[in-house]
Amino acid sequence: MARKERVTHKQDPSAHKTREKWATRIGVVLAMAANAIGIGNFLRFPVQCAQNGGGAFMIPYFIAFILIGIPLMWIEWGIGRFGGKYGHGTTPGMFHYLWNHPFAKYLGAIGIFLPFGILIYYNYIVSWTLAYSAFSLTGQYLAVPGHEQMVDFLAAFQGRAQNEYFNSHATALIFLFITIAILTWILSRGIVKGIEAVATWGVPLTFIIGVVLVWRVATLGTPDPAYPDRSILNGLGFMWNPNFEALKDTKVWLAATGQIFFTLSVGFGCIQTYASYLSEKDDVVVSGLATVATNEFSEVLIGGFIAIPVTVAYFGLAQTQVIAQSGAFDLGFCALPLIFQKLPGGQLFGALWFFLLFIAGLLSSIALAQPMMAFLQDEFTLSRQKAALMVGGLCLFLVIPIVFFLKHGFLDEMDFWLGTFGVVLFALVEIILFIWIFKPKNAWKEIEMGADMRIPKFFYPVMQYVTPIYLGILLVAWFAQDGLKIIFMKGVQPGDYPYIWFARFLMTTILLTLIFLVFLAWQKKHRIQHKVPK
Ligand code: PHE
Repeated sequence: MARKERVTHKQDPSAHKTREKWATRIGVVLAMAANAIGIGNFLRFPVQCAQNGGGAFMIPYFIAFILIGIPLMWIEWGIGRFGGKYGHGTTPGMFHYLWNHPFAKYLGAIGIFLPFGILIYYNYIVSWTLAYSAFSLTGQYLAVPGHEQMVDFLAAFQGRAQNEYFNSHATALIFLFITIAILTWILSRGIVKGIEAVATWGVPLTFIIGVVLVWRVATLGTPDPAYPDRSILNGLGFMWNPNFEALKDTKVWLAATGQIFFTLSVGFGCIQTYASYLSEKDDVVVSGLATVATNEFSEVLIGGFIAIPVTVAYFGLAQTQVIAQSGAFDLGFCALPLIFQKLPGGQLFGALWFFLLFIAGLLSSIALAQPMMAFLQDEFTLSRQKAALMVGGLCLFLVIPIVFFLKHGFLDEMDFWLGTFGVVLFALVEIILFIWIFKPKNAWKEIEMGADMRIPKFFYPVMQYVTPIYLGILLVAWFAQDGLKIIFMKGVQPGDYPYIWFARFLMTTILLTLIFLVFLAWQKKHRIQHKVPK
């Protein structure tokens, strides 16, 4: 098998013959939707929205959706399918064909670095949701008396503290291990039998659970008659009433754009890899739109109607504000479990809520892992099983500092560089390569090949000018607002400096290793007379 693959590799660009392809069109859309729908939809979105102007947040959110989200979605599908044609499922190979310059492939290393780096900690978060789903069923947190104690419960579970609830990392490690094992197993089954199959039942399942939860929330009314203002209606009002003052704040615009990147999974390198398993006959334009629509439905209409409204109904406006300010994890893992204690049928609804997060998160983990998988398979002709074991093993190994240094801000540091700064930078790079260097005419042709519909005219100038300029401004604004503070570790406890440096060291090492691997892969190709076709 390995031998056969090597032979076809020589005949690149016909190498694609050995690559897998998605089985059905609906499967592609579901797999892409599974990629996009994640913890971001159900926890990150409501918190961002509540923190940044409520309903008014939807204005910069929608603008970013049109000017950045949709264009990048098409661009990434286009780049991905284009690379797949030459047997490359990751951006080093894709960029190599877009820009005939030795440097291009190294820029592409970022498109493996970002998802893989994020995968390392995302898996850990996903494993918490599995654990809490189990805790709901077994009633583990039922007796925890109040919010403060629930915060202690989470801290002890994560090993940041020791108290009567947990006294070691053991429980967290068990669930982490289970999560990574499931991930590895799905990856080893490949594109159709693994990813597409899991997405085909996983996405509908998230919708079913989501709708059940929305229905439960919507029928709550005023749970405690002693507090008539603590109602679902007020909760919806808090979530959705626009505060237009907020739009004067750059922070709100940055947050909205950041959420679009995160929720649609654009700027990471993951969409490109999934798209590399398309064929030239497949439609990109309509399927890309179907993907973003599915994601937005689950984000705005399901994610926006569960966590925050229910918190207002039980805790009132003032406290919800405080909870939302403390972030997504506080809301999801501390406030909601307290509500499940009181809600009729709460154990079951709690289990469903965390299971929803688990399924959505796991499917996103798969998407974050697939670039590394494709890189090992396409560029080093590793078998799928070997690649999956390697990715799973690396995840287990590299997550260790995150587990043990969580309280020192290790995860946040990685999240800023990879999930906030990295994605905007990478999006700018790919758009310059695809639209400007590869030329607009070729770019539109790649996207529209096999499409059911052409790109609406409005989007040509947007993709050519507006999106890149918007991204450039965003980078500068971001840097001024957050970047400098983070680089100089403002607000970090001096005792945590070594941990932050260690996080940076780890990220740099992963990036340099990937760049070196790209170098090695291309060395090999040179020996087989690799030519760039015109
Ligand atoms: N879109 C996912 C979410 O909303 C996160 C993600 C980003 C997944 C990039 C895969 C790739 O949670």
